[in-house]
Amino acid sequence: MNFWKGIINEYRAFMPVSDKTEIITLNEGNTPLIHAKKVSEYVGFNVYLKYEGLNPTGSFKDRGMTMAITNALENGSTSVICASTGNTSAAMAAYASRCNMKSFLLIPDGYVALGKIAQAMIHGSKVIKIKGNFDRALEIVIDISKKYPIALVNSVNPFRIEGQKSAAFEVSEQLGKAPDFLCIPVGNAGNITAYWKGFKEFKALNKIETLPSMCGFQAEGSAPIVKGYKIDNPETIATAIRIGNPASWKFATEAIEESNGYINSVTDEEILKAYTFLAQNEGVFCEPASASSVAGLMKYYKNFKYTKDSVAVCVLTGHGLKDPSTAIAQTQEIGEAVEANMELIAEKILG
Ligand code: F0G
Repeated sequence: MNFWKGIINEYRAFMPVSDKTEIITLNEGNTPLIHAKKVSEYVGFNVYLKYEGLNPTGSFKDRGMTMAITNALENGSTSVICASTGNTSAAMAAYASRCNMKSFLLIPDGYVALGKIAQAMIHGSKVIKIKGNFDRALEIVIDISKKYPIALVNSVNPFRIEGQKSAAFEVSEQLGKAPDFLCIPVGNAGNITAYWKGFKEFKALNKIETLPSMCGFQAEGSAPIVKGYKIDNPETIATAIRIGNPASWKFATEAIEESNGYINSVTDEEILKAYTFLAQNEGVFCEPASASSVAGLMKYYKNFKYTKDSVAVCVLTGHGLKDPSTAIAQTQEIGEAVEANMELIAEKILG
């Protein structure tokens, strides 16, 4: 059988595994790169969406988690822990369940989308809500993993970055070259770090000739890198990136500087506008945090050095179904149920 067997098998030469490693995979990766016709028309060059919501647990975190759990198992760990705004935890819970590992999760009370909590729970993770934000939760799990034999699988774990860099390989292969601009939401800053590492590794092997400008976007109320200082009380509707002190801040800054890229912020209003625009014009449903990549491109593209032949890729990090409450809040109410009568319904449809 010759089918896609996940990112470690596909990019084995680039991954920290040996012939003996038992690989824990859900066949993640191989996500589509979708041409965004309406966004392209708006900016005047080609824009593609890397739809990471189609990974097995609905976000890009699966790429890093297959590597982190594979490594934890290889090291003899029997339990794993993370702090999360939701997606990391869903991925951790799923991959840990595949190899009978216990998983523990700290989340900021009241700020995790419903679908993500459902995933962590059904996969059997022990969920602990804290009276504090993601940044505080991360500090606690780092301390716990130092003190107790529980492996940490947040993106400060370098194996997460190794797995996530596979998305840059896929984008390069799908386009047949590197894009000119790689637009990406930035929260804890692991993913922008991973993409940049991936592009550089492909370039070093002459698999691509150029490198993209890395264009990171933070939510305005949670934009420490843009502002240049830690945010004690980050706020945004895009709860996935509600982070005030990114762990990979330094690497994100390096990626942006080395690539002549950009780091900017978008408001919640701009995020929600891009979110509904994608759903209603491109047929693509992503979660709010993901839409910040498109919101940012549409807001700032005039500052970019582009021509009509330029190519931008916007990473849509998570699936829209993760956060049904925000989707419903953005749309009209369906209204009361009506009689199941054809004439009556035809009248309603035709107005
Ligand atoms: N988009 C989504 C949907 C996310 O869940 C995250 C991060 C990001 C973007 C930002 O990626 O942190 O690598 O810069 N979510 C983490 C979590 C923090 O716990 O699921 P980053």
